[in-house]
Amino acid sequence: MHPAVINGAYDVDRIRQDFPILSLPVYGKPLVYLDNAASAQKPKAVLDRLHHAYTAEYANVHRGLHYLANAATEAYEGAREKVRAFLNAERPEEIVFTRNATEAINLVAYTFGCERIKAGDEIVLSIMEHHSNIVPWHFLRERQGAIIKWAPVDDDGNFLIDEFEKLLGPRTKMVAITHMSNMLGTIVPVKEVVRRAHARGIPVLIDGAQGAVHLDVDVKDIDCDFYAFTGHKLYGPTGIGALYGKHAHLAAMPPFNGGGEMIREVFEDRISYGEPPHKFEAGTPSIVQAIGLGTAIDYVASIGKERIRAHEQALGKYAHERLREINSLRIFGAARERGAIISFEMKGAHPHDVATIIDRAGVAVRAGTHCVMPLLARFGVTATCRASFALYNTRSEVDRLAEALIKAQDFFA
Ligand SMILES: Cc1ncc(COP(=O)(O)O)c(C=O)c1O
Repeated sequence: MHPAVINGAYDVDRIRQDFPILSLPVYGKPLVYLDNAASAQKPKAVLDRLHHAYTAEYANVHRGLHYLANAATEAYEGAREKVRAFLNAERPEEIVFTRNATEAINLVAYTFGCERIKAGDEIVLSIMEHHSNIVPWHFLRERQGAIIKWAPVDDDGNFLIDEFEKLLGPRTKMVAITHMSNMLGTIVPVKEVVRRAHARGIPVLIDGAQGAVHLDVDVKDIDCDFYAFTGHKLYGPTGIGALYGKHAHLAAMPPFNGGGEMIREVFEDRISYGEPPHKFEAGTPSIVQAIGLGTAIDYVASIGKERIRAHEQALGKYAHERLREINSLRIFGAARERGAIISFEMKGAHPHDVATIIDRAGVAVRAGTHCVMPLLARFGVTATCRASFALYNTRSEVDRLAEALIKAQDFFA
């Protein structure tokens, strides 16, 4: 257990000591890093693990017979086991390492999707999807003639499960939906989504790029067919993500990329493929990044997801209160079930200008489309600012955000 949480405490100052970058001054001011939904900072444990992997157990995996090759393979496969436990998957063969969530979703669209989805078949997405969970399905629309249907949200950003269900029909071949919106923070009741889709025999992919960071994930309990997530938002390295897939699906799916590692045999006139997960991991994988992801999972577990969630929820609530006091702000997203993400715009100001001004006060937020253009269109805007919270953020950082925004108003008065 992490020393910061012994005896039920949540000593955020102690946790912050684990993240060297958080003490970096920017423009001579202490950094307030609120761009966590884009990518989270890394604890020393992960940085040290990467260093150790490169300095004491580095070689290519699965192919050597020497000491270092075995050490690297053991660490890499150990990380797969950590991801399995993190998602509560049945077996490690159900975990495919990918570069990120985007690649995991593309893998499903290109293999499972391409085989099953033909002209006139329907794919149901939510209007909250990140482009990573839209564009691969648009490819099937363009290339195969599939039809995309969009499950709506209400004005507060609540996911409308009954409206979603109305979209499911005999031509629906796939549901692909986010666990948690990266712009509104809305949490989708994925277990119920799966239940209603499965009642009609429709498979479900969940985009857990945000959900895996902030929510408990139990793929057996959710019963989803696929779950995709990405390491760098979970305090892990870039260049590593994972796809969970039910074993029966992975075994039946054609391979994704071709190359070394994913084959059983190659002849001049024929090839045969390996078993999952290796069938989907062509070429040298992100070995050290996967190992680092394993350590990030251990780090989160040492604090406890429930404790982290309670801390982040309190921050998100406080941020809503503070930002609601600022009259020039329009806040997006007040869903009943939501995580600690708050999107907003300032009257008369472009979000890029707002973000640039508060950056000078040391406050880092994201501004732009957040890769959710259909959702922005739903709310009639072309961009927003977004503050997103992590396990190391504090109430005083929320105050710094609010103060910076209050000052920024003067530029646009
Ligand atoms: C909900 C959601 N899905 C998918 C992604 C894509 O993640 P990655 O770029 O790591 O593949 C993101 C990243 O912002 C996200 O927020």
